[in-house]
Amino acid sequence: MDNRVLFKRDLKEKQELVNIILDRFLPRKDEYPKEIHKAIRYSLFAGGKRMRPYLTMLAWQLFQEDLEPITYVAAAIEMLHTYTLIHDDLPDIDNDEYRRGKKSCHAVFGEEVALLAGDALLVGAFELLTWAPLPEKIKQELVAEMAAECGAKGLIAGQMADIESEGKKPDKKTLEYIHQNKTARLINLALRFGGRAGGAKPAELKALEEYGTNIGMAFQIVDDLLDIEGSQEELGKSIGKDRESGKMTFPSVYGMEKSRQMADDYKQAARQALSHFGNKALLLNMLADFIVDRSN
Ligand code: IPE
Ligand code: IPE
Ligand code: MG
Ligand code: MG
Ligand code: MG
Repeated sequence: MDNRVLFKRDLKEKQELVNIILDRFLPRKDEYPKEIHKAIRYSLFAGGKRMRPYLTMLAWQLFQEDLEPITYVAAAIEMLHTYTLIHDDLPDIDNDEYRRGKKSCHAVFGEEVALLAGDALLVGAFELLTWAPLPEKIKQELVAEMAAECGAKGLIAGQMADIESEGKKPDKKTLEYIHQNKTARLINLALRFGGRAGGAKPAELKALEEYGTNIGMAFQIVDDLLDIEGSQEELGKSIGKDRESGKMTFPSVYGMEKSRQMADDYKQAARQALSHFGNKALLLNMLADFIVDRSN
C-alpha cells in the first residue's frame, strides 16, 4: 500500500476510536441543562484533525499493540485541546467567529455558555484520564503532568504572553516563548503520554520529547503562515486575524520565506530524533510531513 494511503487510513481509524470514547464519556445533548452539553458536543465534534490524540496513540504503538487503554488518554488530550480553542476564540482573547469550519462556540451559544463549555472540557479531560485502564501509579503521573504543562506555568502562560504581546515590538525571545508554551508543550505532552503509558525507557522518552518539541514549533509556525496564505474555506477559521490584532508571529518577526525555512528545519530536527526508533516510526515520520505541508 502507498504510504500516504496507509497514513490517511490509520489517522481516520484512530480518529474514530477517539470519537467513540468521547461520545461515551460526554452527557447526551438532551440532558438537563441542555445548552452546556450541546455546546460541548458542538465544538468537540465540529471536525478537528485529532492530531494530538493521534500522536499519543502512535507513540504508544512504538511499545504496545492493544490500543484500548491509550484511547482514553488520547481522548482526554483532545478534550483539553478543544477547551483551549473555545477560550482562545472568545471576544476577550482572539475574538474569532469561525472554528473548525463552523461558527465558533460563543458565536452560536453565547459567551457565558462557551466559557462554561471550555471549563467543563478542561476538568472533564482530567476525569477521563482516570477512566483509562492503566496502572493507578501511571495515571497519577499523567494527571500531575497534564496539570503542570497546561497551567499558569505552561500553556496558560503561553496564551498570556500571546495576548500581552499584541501590538508590541517584535522580539525573537518572546516569540519563541509564546510558541513553545501555547502550542509545543501540549503537542509534546500528547506524545510523551503515549510513550510514558506504553513503558518507554528514559532514552526513548527523550527521543520522543525531542521530536515533540520540534514538531510543536513547526506546527505553530505553519499555523502562523496559514493565517496569511491559507484559504478560509480549507482552514475552517478566519484568516488575516493575526496581522489585524498585531500578534507576534513567525512571519511578523522573520518574514514568510524565513519562517517557512524554519518550519522545515524544525521538521528535519524532529525526524532526526525519530531515527532512534528505526522503521517503527514510519507514521510519526509521515506526520512530520503532514504538519508542515498541511493546508488546514
Ligand atoms: C489549532 O490547532 C490551535 C493551534 C495550536 C494552532 P489545530 O490546527 O490542531 O486544530 P484542530 O484540532 O484541527 O481544529
Ligand atoms: C492557539 O494559537 C493556541 C491555543 C489555542 C492554545 P492561535 O490563536 O494562533 O490558534 P488559532 O489560529 O486561533 O487556531
Ligand atoms: Mg490565540
Ligand atoms: Mg486564535
Ligand atoms: Mg493561529
